Amino acid sequence: MCGIVGYLGEKEASSVLLEGLKRLEYRGYDSAGMAVLNGNGVAKAKCAGKIAALETVLLSQPIHGHTGIGHTRWATHGRPNDENAHPHSDCKNRFALVHNGIIENYLEIKEKLLKAGHHFRTETDTEIIPHLIEIYYNGNLEEALIRSLHEIRGSYAIAAIAEDEPQKIAAARMGSPLVIGIGKGEYFLASDIPAFLPFTRDALIVEDGEVIVLTPEGVKLLDSHQKKIERTSFRVLWDTAMAEKGGYKHFMLKEIHEQPDVISETLAGRLKPNGISLEIEIPKFERVFLTGAGTAYHAAMIGKYWFENLAKIPAEVELSSEFRYRNLHLSKKTLVVAVSQSGETADTLAAVREAKKQGASVLAVTNVMGSSISREAPSLYTRAGIEIGVAATKTYVSQLTLLFLLALKAGLEREALSSEEMKMFLKELYRLPELVSLTLKKESDVKHIAKLFASRKDFLYLGRHVYYPIALEGALKLKEISYIHAEGYAAGEMKHGPIALIDENVVAVALTLKSPVYEKTISNVEEVLARDASLILVAEETNKQVSKYTNHLFLIPETHWLLSPILAVLPLQLLAYLISDKKGCDVDQPRNLAKSVTVE
Ligand code: M6R
Repeated sequence: MCGIVGYLGEKEASSVLLEGLKRLEYRGYDSAGMAVLNGNGVAKAKCAGKIAALETVLLSQPIHGHTGIGHTRWATHGRPNDENAHPHSDCKNRFALVHNGIIENYLEIKEKLLKAGHHFRTETDTEIIPHLIEIYYNGNLEEALIRSLHEIRGSYAIAAIAEDEPQKIAAARMGSPLVIGIGKGEYFLASDIPAFLPFTRDALIVEDGEVIVLTPEGVKLLDSHQKKIERTSFRVLWDTAMAEKGGYKHFMLKEIHEQPDVISETLAGRLKPNGISLEIEIPKFERVFLTGAGTAYHAAMIGKYWFENLAKIPAEVELSSEFRYRNLHLSKKTLVVAVSQSGETADTLAAVREAKKQGASVLAVTNVMGSSISREAPSLYTRAGIEIGVAATKTYVSQLTLLFLLALKAGLEREALSSEEMKMFLKELYRLPELVSLTLKKESDVKHIAKLFASRKDFLYLGRHVYYPIALEGALKLKEISYIHAEGYAAGEMKHGPIALIDENVVAVALTLKSPVYEKTISNVEEVLARDASLILVAEETNKQVSKYTNHLFLIPETHWLLSPILAVLPLQLLAYLISDKKGCDVDQPRNLAKSVTVE
């Protein structure tokens, strides 16, 4: 996730762009840059680091002009350094372009461009676009942009400028957000409304497939065949704080609702007709060991079941805080997968170092390019964008999605899956963003149940096999943001002790999804009911049996049982959020916690 901005008017573009970028910093902040037109070509300023670093660069080397574009980066392709910071340009620096999204087929296009003699300066996927514009430019920027877009596949919000058209910005959207601000004789574009709220409250939403042209004459909206589209602007009534949260009350809720898009990003370019393609080579291994902390550990736990079931390979999991104190006898044939959203968790970093010391192959699954862990080990990125809420939500589902791909790929390479099974899993993965979106649409059902149980003091989350880590995650979400006592338990373990706790004061939340452990879990549900606990069940909407146990149901769409944990966790995230909000807790910054734990 990155943020883009654009300005055309009479003000000094660099200061308007800087203001906008500061308001988009929540979308990424590993590098930033801008380009303006001043009648003498394209003037650029860019650097690694936060917007404050760019501000310092601009103080010593100001750039002047009234038309410009800017970018704050959350690296996906290429390290966060000065060169990879946007804007990017063509061979002769006649064009500048900023991009939020991922170009899936950039490698093949880059190869062709290199053969044709184009000179590349960065490791980014984005840089191919200004080079394509360079080829197609014939005095009209939007025309060249549209022709370039016909060649690329992926997601984007793009803004471009050309030295020969100093009073024009051309932009386009496909799968990444883009809005236009309309002021008096001035125009803005941005990934999100807060970027231009200090200047105007009149906005226009750009839809997928559309191209926008900003000139002093106004805003022109075009479809991909350059046909004009009419759209009326609307007035933004949110205050600035609300606007940053996209109209949601808290970042956590916004991040929960971003999950369909996040999963699309995690999958982008990785699903192929006959399998899975990952950006890095995974060394051959005979055993896999997963590790992480907190929510990342819960993702690692599910990863273990996936490696066992999809790749038929021995898999183990350990908390990263325990990893280095065990005698694990790792070897070259062991792949250690370290899962960490931030890439900075001290225990997980220490586990990575220990695994390397023992000679194991190490792979990191992380959200942050350039983080400490990503510098220690080859990394696969979850591409969830920046997560502001301390409670991990969208980064968790993106970790799960990526671990599933990893296990599926291992299964394919070991011929542990038939081609029929592979096709079925690919089909289900393609449907996943839509299934997540359908699940989240049922927020009002969760709201009703949250209201009923918000004042209760003890929750017990129960699940077996792949749903056991989901039970742990559901309980963790509730305790960390609502300060209610909650336990996650392997449902089969109940009768070995915890059942003694159960009485009418306990709320049990059981994961009764159709799977090989369904009937056993239902027996555990009966045990809970027999002891008068209140009961909430998570089940498929096609399951007509569950309503005989309780009226408190979170119903989710059907998918393969190995994938259903990714859907099952969603109502549990919402339940924790809604209870926390109802109790008036500080949802985004719960007490005693930090987003990343860099001490052991
Ligand atoms: O950045 P990491 O994924 O390594 O962080 C690990 C845990 O600290 C983190 O998942 C924590 O448990 C979250 N607050 C859970 O919501």
